[in-house]
Amino acid sequence: MQNNCIYLDNNATTKVDPEVIEVMLPYLTDYYGNPSSMHTFGGQVGKAVRTAREQLAAILGADESEIVYTSCGTEGDNAAIRAALLAQPEKRHIITTQVEHPAVLNVCKQLETQGYSVTYLSVNNQGQLDLDELEASLTGNTALVTIMYANNETGTIFPIEQIGLRVKEYGAIFHVDAVQAVGKILLNMKTSTIDMLTLSGHKLHGPKGIGALYIRRGVRFRPFILGGHQERGRRAGTENVPAIIALGKAAELELLHLEEAIAKERSCAIAWNKLYLLQFPIV
Ligand SMILES: Cc1ncc(COP(=O)(O)O)c(C=O)c1O
Repeated sequence: MQNNCIYLDNNATTKVDPEVIEVMLPYLTDYYGNPSSMHTFGGQVGKAVRTAREQLAAILGADESEIVYTSCGTEGDNAAIRAALLAQPEKRHIITTQVEHPAVLNVCKQLETQGYSVTYLSVNNQGQLDLDELEASLTGNTALVTIMYANNETGTIFPIEQIGLRVKEYGAIFHVDAVQAVGKILLNMKTSTIDMLTLSGHKLHGPKGIGALYIRRGVRFRPFILGGHQERGRRAGTENVPAIIALGKAAELELLHLEEAIAKERSCAIAWNKLYLLQFPIV
């Protein structure tokens, strides 16, 4: 198959970084142990998974224990929404937006058929939300607010922390689909209002078939997939080790590039300010 095109659709998926492929390959060939095994062969793989988890946690400013691996962004969204509702069975209202990815919208539509009421917030001609509409929709019966960070079609970024502050006033769980934001926006879960956050490996130069869900420590989480004790009992199934290793490396590289870009932007801004002051000195 020939591939000599110029690819410009990075919101759909990204090319896997060659450095990511390099670190991933040994876990398909030589280090194929099960990270849960008691023996050394599995143990060394378990150690590599721990390092990868630290790398991924770093891009979110999260703790490693707050990361749960999933198979993709879609699974992360499904798991977060269902877990939030299972944790608060007495509440029957969800707030989302009209412009979410189908991984959120289709779950919400199904939940409507199961007795939940869903508010779909509208956006204006700039693709932005009206925070007054959000505020008017929140009630004590709201279990979950699930809103994307950045839109996959328009690139619009929602004011997530302003939304989160309002959500917290009503005691609802705040889930953010950050599939299009991770690696592009500097995130810090330590200072954030987000309770759960979804990301996907193939949007940040990692492979397809791996994603993660950030779950803030203390947030009640009921697993969506039941089975073994993997992921601290929050997502059963033998780990996709090569993809986890790859996602760790991809996250490390993305964080590096992001920090470099921010530093460059800052030095440009300082240079512009100096130039401005030289031209128009404050007297
Ligand atoms: C905003 C958003 N959420 C969720 C997803 C689903 O992610 P995945 O393809 O990993 O299932 C996508 C994928 O395009 C997306 O853009």
